[in-house]
Amino acid sequence: MRDLILVLDFGGQYNQLIVRRVRDLGVYAEILPYDAPLDIIKSKSPKGIVLTGGPRVVTEPDAPAVSPDLLSMGIPILGICYGCQLISHMLGGSVVASSSREYGKAPLFVKTDNPLFHSVPEQTTCWMSHTYYVQDPPPNFHIIASTPTCPAASITDGQNFYGVQFHPEVVHTPDGNVIIKNFLHICGVAFDWKVDDFVGDTIKKIRERIGDKRVLMALSGGVDSSVAALMIHKAVGKQLTCVFVDNGLLRLGEADEVENFYRSAYDMNIVRVNASDRFLAKLAGVTEPEQKRKIIGEEFIRVFEEESDKIGETHFLAQGTIYPDIIESGGKHAAVIKSHHNVGGLPKNIAFKEIIEPLRELFKDEVRRAGMSMGMPEHMVYRQPFPGPGLAVRCLGEVTSEKLDILRRADAIFREEIATAGLDRDIWQYFAILPNLRSVGVMGDERTYFHTVALRAVTSLDAMTADWADIPFPVLKKVSNRIVNEAPQVNRVVYDITSKPPATIEWE
Ligand code: XMP
Repeated sequence: MRDLILVLDFGGQYNQLIVRRVRDLGVYAEILPYDAPLDIIKSKSPKGIVLTGGPRVVTEPDAPAVSPDLLSMGIPILGICYGCQLISHMLGGSVVASSSREYGKAPLFVKTDNPLFHSVPEQTTCWMSHTYYVQDPPPNFHIIASTPTCPAASITDGQNFYGVQFHPEVVHTPDGNVIIKNFLHICGVAFDWKVDDFVGDTIKKIRERIGDKRVLMALSGGVDSSVAALMIHKAVGKQLTCVFVDNGLLRLGEADEVENFYRSAYDMNIVRVNASDRFLAKLAGVTEPEQKRKIIGEEFIRVFEEESDKIGETHFLAQGTIYPDIIESGGKHAAVIKSHHNVGGLPKNIAFKEIIEPLRELFKDEVRRAGMSMGMPEHMVYRQPFPGPGLAVRCLGEVTSEKLDILRRADAIFREEIATAGLDRDIWQYFAILPNLRSVGVMGDERTYFHTVALRAVTSLDAMTADWADIPFPVLKKVSNRIVNEAPQVNRVVYDITSKPPATIEWE
């Protein structure tokens, strides 16, 4: 059994980062909600536990807490921010409000040669983001690092408990990785977790689990479903059937590209469904963005159900769900900004007996590494994310085939020029939008009343926040020239210079 570090989530904004840091150091880590049942936690036999930060106050009557039994498991526990305050509060220390919120970089003075700070300079920098702090550590604890405004910036009982008020997981704490690595050494874990091993192990496990049964999967051509499909294909070959739905909302040439690639490179069992007409018929006259998304999601499920009926009974449904999907869908208080739809969303009326999600433990860049380690070509592994509802959310107002044709041409030109300029790996997403806006122009002495095309290109790490990309003017100039000359019915090109927030990446 591989060594595991369990991260118990109290709702802080950096919690996924903690898991990332631990995995990048070669140790497998997982997140569970803070109130996960103790028997589940114990059944995973973690070598160490991290209690994360969170927005609440430990002294409130109904504040989130862990079971006292968790604190007596006898394994190392690191509390970060709220987690540090919680350890302190539960073990008899005091937590109080500071006079003002402390946010940003602070000098950190390391006081002793405790193993948590092994190889960390006596004076370093840390990232603080808190209003409350530990005033008096619990009995038998001592302070091992301080900042000018937070004397108990790090505490320990010298046995199993460690607490830091600052955030070692963010890059603004330059020695944060060393501190996390030190904690992993304290836990006595083996540093031997690698994505490549994960791929081999998973393929083996999938093969054992599937046996001689059949698997059905929706393939979108996106990275997640592609890597998942390839893993399953490597495990059971033609027992896997992939359904690829061309909904008429894909980019220029995309449907043929995806189909040909999987047929020729991997000889996969692929059923391509040309459903463009039925999607466009359902979308006729619809302009409300959420309604468009819902119609596409539902129609996709209908098509998928029909195909699965034709294929006959399949035991397994496979999905390309990745770890952030699982963490995010566990969020209890998140507001619905857009009803996201992933091709491969679970149809309710199909009687599958079991679900296979080979990537449910991986982050996006780990999925990409898994793809590369199976020999997938870079152009498939590093495709930019593309939303499930496709061009419909970039074709504002009613979706018609005429408007889609214009959008496809403009989008293809933009993508081509970004690739030619060598910017495709630096920009998270880059695409065209047809804002349903006509304006007056002049072409060859004639008045025109044509479409405006908007270009959107953003840099991002995880799509949760994004910044507009600083594309060199000569590249924008070339794109704009080509679009007005080559795309039909376009006389104006604009560039979207808004970050997320307040905008979102897609326009609908
Ligand atoms: P927004 O527009 O919310 O998008 O800033 C964040 C990221 O999600 C992608 N996106 C989707 N992906 N199904 C998907 O699989 C969807 O329904 C969907 N809507 C948006 C978007 O392209 C960006 O990467």
